[in-house]
Amino acid sequence: MRDQLTIRRPDDWHLHLRDGPVLRDVLPYTARVFGRAIVMPNLSPPVTTTAAARAYRDRILAALPDGSDFTPLMTCYLTDETQSGDLIAGYRDGVFAAAKLYPAHATTNSAGGVTDVHAIMPVLEAMCEAGMPLCVHGEVTDAAIDIFDREAVFIDRVLAPLLDRLPDLRVIFEHVTTRQAVQFVDDGPANLAATITPQHLHLNRNAMLVGGIRPHTYCLPVLKREEHRLALRRAATSGSLKYFLGTDSAPHLRATKESACGCAGIFNAPQALESYAAVFEEEQALDRLETFASVAGALFYRLPLNTGTVTLRREPQQVPGEIAVAEETVVPFHAGETLRWRITPA
Ligand code: DOR
Ligand code: ZN
Repeated sequence: MRDQLTIRRPDDWHLHLRDGPVLRDVLPYTARVFGRAIVMPNLSPPVTTTAAARAYRDRILAALPDGSDFTPLMTCYLTDETQSGDLIAGYRDGVFAAAKLYPAHATTNSAGGVTDVHAIMPVLEAMCEAGMPLCVHGEVTDAAIDIFDREAVFIDRVLAPLLDRLPDLRVIFEHVTTRQAVQFVDDGPANLAATITPQHLHLNRNAMLVGGIRPHTYCLPVLKREEHRLALRRAATSGSLKYFLGTDSAPHLRATKESACGCAGIFNAPQALESYAAVFEEEQALDRLETFASVAGALFYRLPLNTGTVTLRREPQQVPGEIAVAEETVVPFHAGETLRWRITPA
């Protein structure tokens, strides 16, 4: 049995850093381990222009602990009003790494998202032309569609038609949660890839609903049945370059999760790599963790691989029950559990 694993420094291809005091307190957990992260734009108000993204990037850089080596990769929140001129200029100038498609009302701070992809087809065409990646929250918001079916229906109604129309569009199907999504990505072209979160690899929906409602396991897309979790584990550990690490770490203060209408999102940044390592070990695929965490995403985004390394040591790590954030607390993923791996030096 292996006791130590050194891999190329990983990147997080889907991350919520928030802003202000929350940003200050959550950013160090990511910057300690990851070289870069694709930063989600769903602030309030959302990051919809190059100027707003530059300003947000400056706030992130200012919040980094001294000595950090971390690069935030910014995204533009698409709306029905997005103009391709500013968007593509922001991409060409290196401010935007990608644009994010939130179907309106799909999730946290998505009210200003896109009501119908047809409304932004000229923008998507311009992105395709420029080679700019599109990050997609893949769920329909149709009230008639059951929440557990929203991802699969999104593939049929939105994503497959979009790729038929723009076959060269570079699409990241984010935080996939179903066997249908895995099938779609497996069968799709090389310009279609997906990120997978640690929570969807560890948990099925029983974890959220059996024995009481557990709000700290609630995220969107919502946890699914076991068969889907198993499909995700096969995809993540397959060695395919179409799947890569995206934590979707999404901190919400404890009181807003433990509520009659609790927020969606799991704060997994503090032990994210260790959490993925547990899955890869259980699947006898530790030798493929580096491809998933440190190689596949950079290749897809056409960015250089990181140069440093991180080392995981087999040593029990107790995850705290809560973490101080913005003078309050956030309950992290795996709270109170003991993980088998630890990043060294601690
Ligand atoms: O669970 C989620 N939380 N899913 C999302 O899509 C958004 C995120 C958030 O921003 O809290
Ligand atoms: Zn997210």
